[in-house]
Parts: sequence; structure tokens; C-alpha cells
Amino acid sequence: MSPPTSPPTSSPPAPQPPTSSPSIPQPSTSPPTSSPPTSQQPTSPPPTAQPPPTSPSPTVQPPTSSPTSPPPSPDAGQKLRVGYYIGKCARYVDVEAIVRKHVSQADAGIKAGLIRLFFHDCFVRGCGASVLLDPTTANPQPEKLGVPNFPSLRGFEVIDAAKAELEAACPGTVSCADIVAFAARDASSLLSRDRVGFAVPAGRYDGTVSLAGETIPNLPPPFADAARLERMFAAKGLDAADMVALSGAHSVGRSHCSSFSGRLAPPGSNASGSDMDPVLAARLKAACAASANNNSTDGTVAQDYRTPDELDSQYYRNVLDRKVLFASDAALNAAGTASLVRFFANVPWAWQFRFGEAMVKMGRVEVKTAANGEIRKACRLVNSKAGSREHGMPASSSNFAIIL
Ligand code: HEM
Repeated sequence: MSPPTSPPTSSPPAPQPPTSSPSIPQPSTSPPTSSPPTSQQPTSPPPTAQPPPTSPSPTVQPPTSSPTSPPPSPDAGQKLRVGYYIGKCARYVDVEAIVRKHVSQADAGIKAGLIRLFFHDCFVRGCGASVLLDPTTANPQPEKLGVPNFPSLRGFEVIDAAKAELEAACPGTVSCADIVAFAARDASSLLSRDRVGFAVPAGRYDGTVSLAGETIPNLPPPFADAARLERMFAAKGLDAADMVALSGAHSVGRSHCSSFSGRLAPPGSNASGSDMDPVLAARLKAACAASANNNSTDGTVAQDYRTPDELDSQYYRNVLDRKVLFASDAALNAAGTASLVRFFANVPWAWQFRFGEAMVKMGRVEVKTAANGEIRKACRLVNSKAGSREHGMPASSSNFAIIL
């Protein structure tokens, strides 16, 4: 198999002014009077999940089996339940505690990767763990090899380890999609020192279709302007306020230089390549040049220059100060979203609460049920193909990345 291409390197198009103004709820500085973050139930209306675009990119080889699956049930996301796994196993197993144990053993970078994994899973064919499927002979180009995912997406091994322990303790019961959702929640609370805490409704099934060609049409690129971001979130039933709240995840983790190099001035030039703070831009340029000199073709830098391993509202301060990496981050300063950015920058607990709400809402996108999904035995392979060399065995016997 030929290696997939690296993250997008094309220069960003000139930002366009937003074409619509989002409906941002009126910021209030009083704390929520209803359920606290740790036991919160979603209060937002159900997302109107849309079917994802079906046209794969021309570079993607279609799988030999049909990519179609039974039609999604539109209200499946609303039927998820907090505490779903209580009493589901033959003996007592604390499913969520097992996931949390594995997440807590990961380093801060992998924890950040787990938050992003959930986003990338939910935005492509819904929260059905399709992002976890490895390439096989039948499907050599699954989602995880799509340009936005490879090679930057990380955290897969944590999901594998949690799934292995759960399969041993409670076989055939806990979906990979739910493990991804629990892991993202646990990573959020661990990286925020428990300031972000929310209950995760569960009961998702795992999807059986995964296509690299569906990643670019569904995942917003880092050069997206405000209007494009809003459109792509709206396609998943998420509004502009959800989008602003979720973007706070960019207060942790890293980015490859190729994801923002279009915003830096060209080498040797003192001119600014964007509205990025010039001091930050110079620092990023130096860091990326240093990694290039170290034979790393695409270096990485922290997303939050100030508190890189803390999931906090510093991100919004960075947006206001123009000290963010992506045009998509800077785009939140657009007229329609700027007031919410200021609010979250000034009232950290409001963002912590709203981030949890938006994560729960995102977790309801295009959820699979028993009618159109399965509980995978191993998160990297669909069951129906497991054990068949023709259809199901991974293209590599151990880690697919080795052969790429
Ligand atoms: C608003 C549109 C978004 C865009 C355009 C975007 C784009 C990106 C890009 C380009 C990276 C760097 C990848 C790399 O080069 O290594 C990244 C990292 C990350 N994103 Fe986003 N993202 C968006 C929204 C989100 C959302 C909604 C979440 C989660 C709720 C999220 C969580 C993260 C995290 C945690 C990282 C760091 C991952 C790591 O360190 O492995 N992003 N994002």
C-alpha cells in the first residue's frame, strides 16, 4: 500500500466574511441553576443529523464490499442513556471505571488525541467507531487513513487496551463507539483537573463502514472561515455556540506545522502571513524550522502556547489575542461568535459547563443501533469479516502503520 498523504499543505484561501450570523445564546454570568456539570443531562434540542456526503474522493479506492448499511434511525442519539452498562454484564463490571483507568495511564498528548478522536469519529458517519477500523484487503482506505486523520490522529492503543480488558470481563457487550465517548470524557476531566466533568449517555453500536474519502467532506479544515465552519457543524446538528465551545479543545495537544504554515510569513520574510500575533508567528516559525533541520519533515508545536497540557478557557484568551494556530481558530473572532469567545475567556466555569454539554450533543450524532450496527469484538475490525483473510484480516498482522 502506498503511504497516504500528509496533512494538508495547501495555502489557505483568503478568509471570507460570514454569510450568516449564528444564534448565540445570550451570555449570562450566573452559574447554571439546573444539574451540575458532573451529573449533567443534555439540555439542547436533538441534533438533526444529516446523512454524510457519500462521494468518496477520487484518490480513494472503493472497498470491494458495499459501503451501504441499513438506514440510520434518526432518534437513536436521543435513546442513549447515562449508566447504560450498569447490569449489562454477567458479573459486576464497572465499565466506565475500566476505560478511565486506561485513559489515566496515557500521557497528556495521547489524552488530547482521545478528545480529537471522538470529534473525528462523530463527524464522519456518526459516533460509530468507524475511525478505528484498520485497512484490510477488502477496504484498504478506511477513515483513519484520510488526510485529516493520518498520521496525526492518536490514542488508538488506549481504546484497544480498554476494549481488550472489557471483552475479557464482559464479552460482546461494550461498543467501541461508547469506549471512544467515555475516553474523550475521561481525557477531558483528567486534563482539566476535573473542572470539566459530564455524564456520557451510552448505548451506541459500532458501524461497519469506514471510508477515507468521507473525511475531507465532513471534517472542517484548519483554513476554514467562519461561514464554512458553521455550515460543517450545522450539517451535524451542532450550532455556532456548540462549535465555539468545542473549539476550546484546542487548549490542549499539538499540531503539525503543515496545518498552520500557511499562516506564517514565508522563510526569510519579515512580513506577516496572517493576522497572527507576530511574536507567536516568529516563535512558531523558528520551532518548525528547527524540527525540519532535525530531519523531521513535519514538526509539531503545542496548540496553546501558555498552558499546553491543560484543558482550560485559555484558548479563548488566545483567540482574542490572535495567538492561535489555525485560521479556523482565528475565525471565531468573526462578528457572530466574538461575544461568546469573550464570554468564555472571562467566565471559565461557563465554558467548562458548555463544553460538556456540547460533547454530549456531539455524541448523539448519527448513532448506530442494533439494526444498523454491531458490538465489535475488536475495535480495529468489523465482526462479520473477523477471521477471514479475504475480507477481514488487517493488511498487516500487527500494527498497520508498520507497513505504510
Ligand atoms: C472547528 C473546527 C476544527 C478544526 C478546523 C480543527 C483542526 C485541527 C487540526 C488541524 C489539528 C492539528 C492536527 C495535527 O496537525 O496534528 C487539531 C488538533 C486537535 N483538535 Fe481540532 N479542529 C477543530 C475542532 C475540534 C473539536 C470540535 C475538537 C474536540 C472537541 C478538537 C480537538 C482537537 C485536539 C484535542 C487536538 C490536539 C490533538 C493531539 O494533540 O493529538 N478539534 N485540530
